[in-house]
Amino acid sequence: MLKLGVNIDHVATLRQARYRGQPGGEPDPVTAALLCEAAGAHGITAHLREDRRHIIDNDVHRLRRAIRTRLNLEMANVPEMVEIALDVHPEIVCLVPERRDEISTEGGLDAAGAILALTETCLRLNNAGIEVSLFIGPEPRQVEAAAQIGAQFIELHTGNFAEHFEQTAERNREIERLVAAATLANQFGLRVNAGHGLNVRNVPLLHVVPHMVELNIGHTLVSRAIQTGLAAAVREMLDVMKGYIG
Ligand code: PXP
Repeated sequence: MLKLGVNIDHVATLRQARYRGQPGGEPDPVTAALLCEAAGAHGITAHLREDRRHIIDNDVHRLRRAIRTRLNLEMANVPEMVEIALDVHPEIVCLVPERRDEISTEGGLDAAGAILALTETCLRLNNAGIEVSLFIGPEPRQVEAAAQIGAQFIELHTGNFAEHFEQTAERNREIERLVAAATLANQFGLRVNAGHGLNVRNVPLLHVVPHMVELNIGHTLVSRAIQTGLAAAVREMLDVMKGYIG
């Protein structure tokens, strides 16, 4: 069965828009994570960015204590984050590229261009019992590099596929690249996750991609939650306003 890892970063983005620098605040990513688990999600993903723009350190520690499924900590391969991962001890770390000017992770990791640094981090995390996944584009040389580095998983970047969903030729070409990359990864003994830009319209087209273990999905779930939950939130507010008699 294909598993669902829910990325809760955008819950934290919304909280930071109002409560940055303050304790607590809503919406709480840990509460959201527990709701996702109760609904059947198989894991929770959180990206602790170097600039702490959404998930903050305290969220990661609270998630570690609260969730009952698997914690997938997304992070850049930098010493500060490696130390945090060794301290928090998520089940899995997904190494991603990070640029400060991007809104969310845009491209895949250049694993082929950073073999030594990634191998060292992979070894340190593995020695601590933490599995490692590399977020890469569906390119054979990046899959080969992931195998050489000794990662347990790759996460295939589905952003190009999602962006070209309406352009059939480009979309189909991207699906072929995902199929080829997943096939190659499997031949190398790598397990395969995928994510970025996925939603209920485009996920069914990915059913042809073999060997996938888990999809990591965030933005669409938080978006759908707002659209399906806003009416209830308005009713709740109108209810408490009813007491006004001035
Ligand atoms: N996987 C990785 C590695 C990500 O960085 C992200 C968020 O950018 C996702 C999956 C989830 O993408 P989305 O929020 O578009 O579903």
